[in-house]
Amino acid sequence: MTEAHPTTAGRGGELGLAAAHAGAFQERFGAGGRPRVFFSPGRVNLMGAHLDYNGGPVMPTAIDRGTFVAVRARRDTRVALASTLDGALVELDIDRLPAARSGRWADYPVGVLREILALADAQGARGIGLDVLFGGNLPVGAGLSSSASICVGTAFALDAVYGLGLPRVELVHAALRAERGFVGVQCGIMDPYAVGLARQSSLLWLDCKDRSSEYIPIDHERVSIAVADTLVRRELAQGAFNERVAQCRAAFDGLRPHQPDATCLRDVRFETLAAHGGELEPASARRAHHVIQEVARTFSARDALRRGDAAGFGAEMTRAHDSLRELFEVSVPELDRLVESAVATPGVHGARLTGAGFGGCAVVLLERGAEADLAARLTRDYEAAFGRAPVVEFFGGDPGPREIPWN
Ligand code: GLA
Repeated sequence: MTEAHPTTAGRGGELGLAAAHAGAFQERFGAGGRPRVFFSPGRVNLMGAHLDYNGGPVMPTAIDRGTFVAVRARRDTRVALASTLDGALVELDIDRLPAARSGRWADYPVGVLREILALADAQGARGIGLDVLFGGNLPVGAGLSSSASICVGTAFALDAVYGLGLPRVELVHAALRAERGFVGVQCGIMDPYAVGLARQSSLLWLDCKDRSSEYIPIDHERVSIAVADTLVRRELAQGAFNERVAQCRAAFDGLRPHQPDATCLRDVRFETLAAHGGELEPASARRAHHVIQEVARTFSARDALRRGDAAGFGAEMTRAHDSLRELFEVSVPELDRLVESAVATPGVHGARLTGAGFGGCAVVLLERGAEADLAARLTRDYEAAFGRAPVVEFFGGDPGPREIPWN
């Protein structure tokens, strides 16, 4: 069976979900004043796989599922953080914030709180105590960036309740510093940018070398984005991700002497790799091969989308998956099965794994109207191979972090 999840699609759905979250807040923290409710989306990356930490371009888009943050100011300096996912309450004092992480989910919002309070301080403003409830409808660990969704959503909500008026990109950087510093995850820049700078009906083109960006329209009347979750979660994924980062770094260090103008692996020309790849560890050479070709594919995918050529864009996605399987070695048989079944379905333009890989989700670009056939085929083929169903969902775009006027 293909599972259907509610989405925030449509204003009615969004208001209803926000009101339900406000209700959950009042159950948790008592009636009192009404909380303000904020929403921050997740993201799916369509092109530019494993390029952000190599200085390359990426093409993510926000999805209409994500994190709800309900916030109410207190009269003291206490901050109480709760989540609909567990019963624990994390309590802090804004004048004595913890200096070290706890290893629990609350590290994400605590890290962001530290960053936003520091920015408030720099403006001569002062934080106040808050009750905060987090919740949402984004699967965790699926490669849809639940951590950037919660971090950017927290930064956005704190900026609003403290009245700081910080630019979006400052909030993105606060989220990034929190995740890299306090939480201790060496994440790339793509995820918080994809969430924080999202715009409706657009892919974000982000050049991770100079951080310049532009929006490329995507016509949701004509094309649909599906995400199929293998439900495979690899415990070792973080370690394998860090290993890929290190191998790319080693490839760059090995190739730079042959091309001194290169400032990151994205700058290395294919001829340099062809001439000197043999001097690298074989695994590092394969990673570099993927990165250098993925940069070219991502530019070509952008050209295709600008011409309105969804099929041309999709073909680059499928080539990217082949390279992620053969050269970057981050796929698993479950993802390969989904991609193979997807591209064999009429109306599908292309498919690839999204996020880091090692399990998680495949993303599919398809013509509107082909959704039912795609879901049926993915489910049938996957069940035949693995004895269980994937979760197949279709997403609308999302305009990015915002307050939802639920009352
Ligand atoms: C993970 C990371 C991103 C990016 C992708 C691969 O999702 O969080 O920064 O590196 O993998 O494209």
